Amino acid sequence: MKLVGTIVCGLSLLAAVSCGNSSLSVGECGECTNNGTECASGECEGKSNCKGVESNAVVENIMSRRSIRNYKEKPVERALVEEVMKCGINAPSGQNKQSWEVRIVDDPAFQNEIKAAMAATGNERAAGCFYNAPVWLFIARDKSYDFSTIDCGLLSQNIMLSANSLGLGTVCLGSPVRFILTSPDKDKVLSKLEFSDGYELCICIAMGYPNEKPVAKPRDFGKVKFVD
Ligand SMILES: Cc1cc2nc3c(=O)[nH]c(=O)nc-3n(C[C@H](O)[C@H](O)[C@H](O)COP(=O)(O)O)c2cc1C
Repeated sequence: MKLVGTIVCGLSLLAAVSCGNSSLSVGECGECTNNGTECASGECEGKSNCKGVESNAVVENIMSRRSIRNYKEKPVERALVEEVMKCGINAPSGQNKQSWEVRIVDDPAFQNEIKAAMAATGNERAAGCFYNAPVWLFIARDKSYDFSTIDCGLLSQNIMLSANSLGLGTVCLGSPVRFILTSPDKDKVLSKLEFSDGYELCICIAMGYPNEKPVAKPRDFGKVKFVD
């Protein structure tokens, strides 16, 4: 049995390397499994690691999510965006305060206005910071609640994971927050986003049908440890 385990883990290492992710070590097949097609020999199938832990749809969804920076020109149906948002607001929040507000911008005319406002900062990366995504999400936090950034983060992750499970790509974006808040046209953009008094822009998300399949960036499991 031990020999079989060693062989399986050895094969998994090969699979990990063949996935182009040399940061994976023996016993870590997760990235490979969940990138699907790249794991040709299939030895990781149904397992999130080589220690016999079974995988499932949730784990696979989490492990397969990647930031998408290239989108198809196809618009996203509003019903689908609403489904994703229902998952977003199902996130836990401190004292169930739901200390967020979300604005969905899928109107190209308004997107161009925001793009122009961001470009007015003079930063050459500003205009393209939402990539070519058809749906832009603006998430604001309740400034009066000290945990509202956490609430917004959890909401965002629910949005990104549910989107991934429904065939949509996303990327979490901090740069538009900076570009908008430093733009000479900041007030114009913010007033059109209609956040309630006491709320401030916290994070953005670009969303659309993915036109790329990025490889996972390395993660450092050394940051996680059991302590006795
Ligand atoms: C708070 C936050 C801000 C981010 N801002 C940007 C951004 O402005 N532009 C960008 O291209 N990606 C941005 N990202 C995406 C990260 O670069 C990405 O999540 C990270 O490199 C890991 O890659 P993965 O999401 O594919 O696993 C941001 C992510 C987070 C969580």
